[in-house]
Amino acid sequence: MKKILVTGGLGFIGSHTVVELQNEGYEVLIIDNLSNSSIDVLGQITSITGKKPVFENLDLKNQDDIKAFFKSNKNIDGIIHFAASKAVGESVEKPLEYYHNNISSLIYLLEEMQHNNVSNFIFSSSCTVYGQADIMPITESAPFKPAESPYGNTKQIGEEIISDTSKVSNLRAIALRYFNPIGAHGSAEIGELPIGIPQNLIPYVTQTAAGIRKELSVFGGDYPTSDGTAIRDYIHVVDLAKAHSVAMKRLLDRKNKSAFEVFNIGTGKGSSVLDVIKAFEKVSNQPLNYKIVDRREGDIIEAFADTSLANTELKWKAELNLEDALASAWKWQLSLK
Ligand code: WQD
Repeated sequence: MKKILVTGGLGFIGSHTVVELQNEGYEVLIIDNLSNSSIDVLGQITSITGKKPVFENLDLKNQDDIKAFFKSNKNIDGIIHFAASKAVGESVEKPLEYYHNNISSLIYLLEEMQHNNVSNFIFSSSCTVYGQADIMPITESAPFKPAESPYGNTKQIGEEIISDTSKVSNLRAIALRYFNPIGAHGSAEIGELPIGIPQNLIPYVTQTAAGIRKELSVFGGDYPTSDGTAIRDYIHVVDLAKAHSVAMKRLLDRKNKSAFEVFNIGTGKGSSVLDVIKAFEKVSNQPLNYKIVDRREGDIIEAFADTSLANTELKWKAELNLEDALASAWKWQLSLK
């Protein structure tokens, strides 16, 4: 049975990926420092799959702890690296914290992989690396624009570190550039757990619908789009999790065509904020309380993916649509009451 280490495996995307890996028959080890996740997720994963992953509460900024982990966990076949800070706004206020947490951890992990001859690596990247791309849909060859935040910069730098390292070592890596991950596992056992006031749209929508928030502020109604609100590519987190499993299999089967590959993971469809609200009102069968306010600093107008490379090379395609994702997010929110 192949052994896969998932860093940040108790987080939103990490936990959904652990479930898919276990469903595929992998043995899963999780490292998480619980800075943005709850230990309860370990039991929730177990109740979904019936298999309890090995878990170590470990901070990847602590190089000695990583060394010790690899010493006592031999024969790791691959690593999926989620562990990172991911709040765009917070990264602007705390740049050093973000560079230290997201970049130092990546470097320490890659070093220990080399010392322990682990070569298969999947990196959690983001469509943020494109900034406001000039052409829609966005392809993997779209150029990096200057990062709009230290968070986005850590993803650009992270990809460059991995690319450079793969040229001179046995590292074989795939970066998955996520568009906007939303929704929750159909069991409503796991889902998004924002700490404090949600920064992202969907948790704010579901908390408003649940009466936790008074009303949703729609950031900007004067964008050059069909209805004036910004457009994103919202992908169901379960489809995104499955993309990680197929990407890891590509590396394990040595099907990768170069030492460092990049794939956009989205639905290929753009939805405006008002589209999301309309779809949510339909799936929740209740009106959503919202008002249109000024644009949010740093937001881009439009982003949706060209996913043809992942479709052909990974044989992966998003199977769930916006309404499926919103319905699962709402079911998850109701389960939290
Ligand atoms: C989506 C749309 C907002 C909240 C960021 C990161 C990205 C990834 C996902 C980590 C935008 C609008 C939002 C609200 C709103 N993060 N919005 N009212 O900014 O596209 O992407 O989160 O991996 O890397 O950049 O996602 O959900 O914050 O915003 O109107 O209360 O919803 O303006 O148009 P974003 P988001």
